[in-house]
This record gives sequence, C-alpha cells and structure tokens, in this order.
Amino acid sequence: MSDITWHGGHFSRPQRWAALGHAGATIWLTGLSGSGKSTIAAAVEARLLEAGRPAYMLDGDNLRHGLNAGLGFSAEDRDENVRRVGEVALLMAEAGTVALVCLISPFRAGRDRARAAHAAAGLDFFEVWVNTPIEVCRRRDPKGLYARAEAGAIQSFTGIDSPYEEPVRPELEIRTDEVDLAEAVARVVGLLD
Ligand code: ADX
Repeated sequence: MSDITWHGGHFSRPQRWAALGHAGATIWLTGLSGSGKSTIAAAVEARLLEAGRPAYMLDGDNLRHGLNAGLGFSAEDRDENVRRVGEVALLMAEAGTVALVCLISPFRAGRDRARAAHAAAGLDFFEVWVNTPIEVCRRRDPKGLYARAEAGAIQSFTGIDSPYEEPVRPELEIRTDEVDLAEAVARVVGLLD
C-alpha cells in the first residue's frame, strides 16, 4: 500500500456539505431476513427525498446482483459482503448522502467494523436493530426461503442453521410487532436530528 497515495479533491467535507446544503450519514439496519429492514429503509428513503435530502438505500439482496455478485452466505462471504457495503456507505455519507444500509449483517464484528470506520472518518453512524421475532419472519416468509431452509434446500440460513448475533447497544431498536411502519419511519428519521 506504500506505493499508493491519497489524492484529495478541492473541497473539504464541510465545504462540500455546505455547497450541497446537506450532510451525509449512515443508517445501518440489521435484522433477520423478513424482519422488515428494506420496507422501513425504502419508506425512510422516500421521506428524506420528499424533503429534498439525498438518501440512497443499499439493500443486501440488490447489491448481491452487482457489487457483491459471487458472494454466498458462508461466514467469510458475509464478512466480505458487510465490509464492502460498509465502505460504500462511508463514501456515500462522505459525499453528502444518507446511506440506508439494509443487511442481515449477522455478526457483531462486521457491524462494529463499519461503525469504527465511520468513527475514524468522523461520520455519523446509527445502528438500527429491526427486531422482529423469528416466528413472525418465518410466518411472513415473503420469499419462501424459511420454508426451503427448514426443508434443507438452503444451507446456512440465518436464524435456522446460521447464527444472528443481536446488537448490544444499537442507537435504535424497532420491535416491528409493537410499532407500525409510520412510527418506525419517524423514529429512524429522528436519528438524524
Ligand atoms: S448478509 O448476512 O451477508 O448481511 P444479506 O443481507 O446480504 O446477508 O442478504 C440476505 C438476503 O439473501 C436474505 O434476505 C435472503 O433474501 C437471501 N438469502 C439467500 N440465502 C440466504 C441465507 N443462507 N441466509 C440468509 N439470507 C439468505
């Protein structure tokens, strides 16, 4: 890496954000498959855009079609998936956008690494635990994946035969069996105040 030099732009971060009129940040939604991460993130994205604030959803399923195509669901591949999305979110935040990450991101170490990278860069990072009981996710099963995992057709499925490490000190916990979507959106948007 010693042969690689960082080349700065003409604008510092404060100058960039002042020119754009917006500050960037990362909101990181973690939770089981089917917990509602993407539903909440899409609604938050819409709310911010309607208010004229740049926001962009970085959804695990979507990114696995492009940036992360080729990565599977082993612990190593998930770690790389989470690392890459953390770096993309950081760049978006730096650029003045609210990055809305929705990844299962089942391992604390991966989430903490993204948090640490943002802290080192002086960028806001909010961890949101979309806490939906697995029985509810299983019942919803929007993609039919729980049924397939239980039938043994999919291996290493989070919550079935692969672990989910619950956040210890998230900035926000949303119990989707207790709050509706509008309330969830309001609480997430409230993090940015
Ligand atoms: S992560 O663990 O690496 O953060 P990510 O959020 O990108 O996962 O992708 C999760 C999505 O992939 C799930 O919502 C589901 O649609 C799909 N998926 C396919 N196989 C699995 C699996 N074995 N475990 C979890 N999700 C899976």
